[in-house]
Amino acid sequence: MLRIEQLDKTIAGHPPRALFRALDLQVAAGECVAIIGESGVGKSTLLNCMAGLETMDSGSIRVGDTELAGLDDDALSHLRRDHFGFVFQAFHVLPHLSLRHNVAVPLWLQGRGGAEADRLAARMLERVGLGPRADDWPQHLSGGELQRVAIARALVHRPSVVLADEPTGNLDPARAADVLDLLLSSVREAGAAGVLVTHSRAAAQRADRVLELKDMRLSPAMAYSA
Ligand SMILES: Nc1ncnc2c1ncn2[C@@H]1O[C@H](COP(=O)(O)OP(=O)(O)OP(=O)(O)O)[C@@H](O)[C@H]1O
Ligand SMILES: [Mg+2]
Repeated sequence: MLRIEQLDKTIAGHPPRALFRALDLQVAAGECVAIIGESGVGKSTLLNCMAGLETMDSGSIRVGDTELAGLDDDALSHLRRDHFGFVFQAFHVLPHLSLRHNVAVPLWLQGRGGAEADRLAARMLERVGLGPRADDWPQHLSGGELQRVAIARALVHRPSVVLADEPTGNLDPARAADVLDLLLSSVREAGAAGVLVTHSRAAAQRADRVLELKDMRLSPAMAYSA
């Protein structure tokens, strides 16, 4: 579903720094891969490259049959809209929209509004355990509940790829584990390819595979105890 081959990227700076060299990654439909690595090593940048939010110097990134390298900005934003779901550390739930409408946003962007969007959003909220609160407001929710809303929103339009950058970074360990299990089971159930960046090795172990970004490449993470 997601295939990266021989990705090279150097970032500007004094001096410029090579971030990725011949980096490869494949994630199958229904599979969740966790990426760990030291701060500043390029994990968020790699997710941004996958989503076409940052350019690569050379190499190939394919989502299904679509090669990102040749796409213009318009095509990239359509690809993001239709094929990607995102979950971020800071939730990015919109305060002036009800939970139902927060979850409906990706459908609105696709031009699917009204009753259909409301119904699909309500169903996703039910899946994440917030069905009865569909018409409540984000400011009434805890951090863990907000991240459930973000998960519902990331999956409501049935994306092929779900990218999550430190999705549990703001949560206490018990809540983080619950939210992560929900994210992983939702991604698997939806048959999407999931890529999860996390600092937490405990969190990473819940994924199907754990890769470490180090020396400009991804490699299987060494076994670890906690
Ligand atoms: N647009 C940019 N221009 C120049 N340098 C950048 C840009 N974006 C990120 N960087 C640099 O690229 C490196 C990788 O950043 P990135 O945010 O991807 O790291 P990370 O692995 O996600 O770190 P963290 O774990 O702290 O979130 C950092 O040194 C950062 O300063
Ligand atoms: Mg980061």
